[in-house]
Amino acid sequence: MLGGHILHGGDYNPDQWLDCPEILEEDIRLMKEANVNCMSLGIFSWARLEPEEGKYDFDWLEQIIDRLGREGIQVVLATPSGAMPHWLTQKYPETMQVQADGKRNLSGKRHNFCYTSPVMREKIYRIDSALSERFGKKDNVILWHLSNELGGNFADSSCHCELCQEAFRNWLKEKYGTLDNFNHAYWNSFWSHTYSDWSQIHSPAPHGETTTTALTVDWKRFVTHQMSDFTRCEIEAVHEHSDLPVTTNFMYFFRGLDYGKMREGLDIISWDNYPFWHKTKDEVQAAVRAAANHNIMRSLKKQPFLLMESTPSAVSWRGFNPVKRPGMHMLSSMQAIAHGSDSVQYFQWRKGRGAFEQFHGAVVGHKNGSNTRTFRQVAELGERLEAVSGLIDGTVNRPKAAMIFDWENWWTLEDVSGPRQDISYIDCILDHYQAFWEAGIDMDFVTMDDSLEGYSLVAAPLNYMYKQGYAEKVREFVEKGGTYVTTYFSGIADETDLCFTGHHPLADVLGIEQEEIDAPSDEFTNSFCYGGKEYAAGNLRELIHAGEETEVLSVYSEDYVKGEPVVTAHSFGKGKAWYLAAAAGEDFLRVFYADRLKEAGIGNTLGTELPYGVTVTERIGNDGKRIVFVMNFRNEPVTIRGIGSWTDAESGKKYEGELQLDAFECIMLQ
Ligand code: GLA
Ligand code: ZN
Repeated sequence: MLGGHILHGGDYNPDQWLDCPEILEEDIRLMKEANVNCMSLGIFSWARLEPEEGKYDFDWLEQIIDRLGREGIQVVLATPSGAMPHWLTQKYPETMQVQADGKRNLSGKRHNFCYTSPVMREKIYRIDSALSERFGKKDNVILWHLSNELGGNFADSSCHCELCQEAFRNWLKEKYGTLDNFNHAYWNSFWSHTYSDWSQIHSPAPHGETTTTALTVDWKRFVTHQMSDFTRCEIEAVHEHSDLPVTTNFMYFFRGLDYGKMREGLDIISWDNYPFWHKTKDEVQAAVRAAANHNIMRSLKKQPFLLMESTPSAVSWRGFNPVKRPGMHMLSSMQAIAHGSDSVQYFQWRKGRGAFEQFHGAVVGHKNGSNTRTFRQVAELGERLEAVSGLIDGTVNRPKAAMIFDWENWWTLEDVSGPRQDISYIDCILDHYQAFWEAGIDMDFVTMDDSLEGYSLVAAPLNYMYKQGYAEKVREFVEKGGTYVTTYFSGIADETDLCFTGHHPLADVLGIEQEEIDAPSDEFTNSFCYGGKEYAAGNLRELIHAGEETEVLSVYSEDYVKGEPVVTAHSFGKGKAWYLAAAAGEDFLRVFYADRLKEAGIGNTLGTELPYGVTVTERIGNDGKRIVFVMNFRNEPVTIRGIGSWTDAESGKKYEGELQLDAFECIMLQ
């Protein structure tokens, strides 16, 4: 466990307060009182660290790091590339990002540099390696935090400057070898789009090409490639004088970069989590989204991750920004731990007096010091985290079920001009995941490049695009006994969006053939019967044909497709593959997956049905140590029955047969 305990603390920006020594003194006193043990420093400090080109001023930072060290507080040290000083952008305007429409950005905001620019890379390399030389071997510095939320510049993570265009063309040349291959892969004979020279290729742009999905998706692949390359430069720089592990903070369902690729080169995955708690009184949607995101981060390395940022109170950038109601800070923080985090960190320690995030929740506000509800909740959490560190040390979640979650599929599916323009991959993933969450079944989220070994059940909703080798992997998985569930609009196209012809690539495994997909308006309703109950068919409905050996469990009840299959099952080798030909709601998915989980022998740890709003996860150690988390996302007490015998891992209290959870409570059981 990094740092030897659960990390608790957050972004600390003392550079905003260097002219207020009494504030810096107070910070240290309050940190002790808040039970925090780790601060992230220097994230946006470039202008303070290098006030003039090549003139570094690190003394103030050293004083802060040392002062924290004397108090036993560890430091996550950032490289400052998340925001650029004005002197730099003024002197080197070519470091500024160019938007898709060709307009070069002005200085301001943050994250808005060209990650290809050699000038930018050199400036960053220099300051990073200088930081590494000065601080890389300090006792209380434990981790490098590269940049900040890479790609997150409010609109588009990519730069379209001439340097980036050239790098894109070279990347394409490398990938396709010849223009013939390239034109074929893109189906460029359509609309006379055949390129006769590499120099004719331009990034997707609103006033240029946006209609070729292969191009829009390759551009995103290239952006990820270039960002990974940029990150590699930062890693090299910080490792020049230090061998500390590196991370970079990822974001909430971020579509701009393929984290499945970005994970390579990082030692630890970390991310920033800002769920919309209290958007409605029913917190289940927010809880499911946060849980899925935590699982994505954990699954990237199948190791504990770090929650690098969260708010102890409210955010300040949504249309309306509710504060966390009593109990939610504890619960949402424990949720991160329950899903595999080894930290709870905040943005930020102290609210700044001015500028964009002056109203974003922080541990210390503008007034009242430690005498606030937020501060007390943070201190209370800190005490608990310290106490349970030993319990979770060396453990991580090891689920038996997995969902395919793949960025390249996400891009292709949503960029394509298909049956509906409003298809949302994330919404569909979450609909399916919610059935698992409600059942208290933890789940990994894996890309098509990952191994399926060790899972009993794999769900692949809206798996439109198949990467090379994926069908073979699934075939082997099912053959060896796995349960595989996939849906309508799956197995349609390859990696450059060329449709498969003849059969579905998994026709032999699924035992079906697809004929057509209908995207009707709301007036053309249909339904199907499953397990004796009627469920509505959603607004994507395939007409499929089942093979002779295929079981048809549900058929359309009405209209021209009446009697045609909706839910099918097909045995293949020792396993079984399921196909859902129509979109369907939570009411159906809940029942459908309960059946599949039972067949696959997967149950929740408590071995009982959970009340609505309650879920369960489990962290397991190499030594077989198991810690069970039971969470109630309802703002009222609930009773869970039929649980057998358990001991509260913190209080030692025994539970026989049932247990009560308070509103927004999380308990840990052994
Ligand atoms: C992101 C950023 C932080 C801060 C927070 C809160 O996660 O990394 O710098 O802006 O959001 O808004
Ligand atoms: Zn550029």
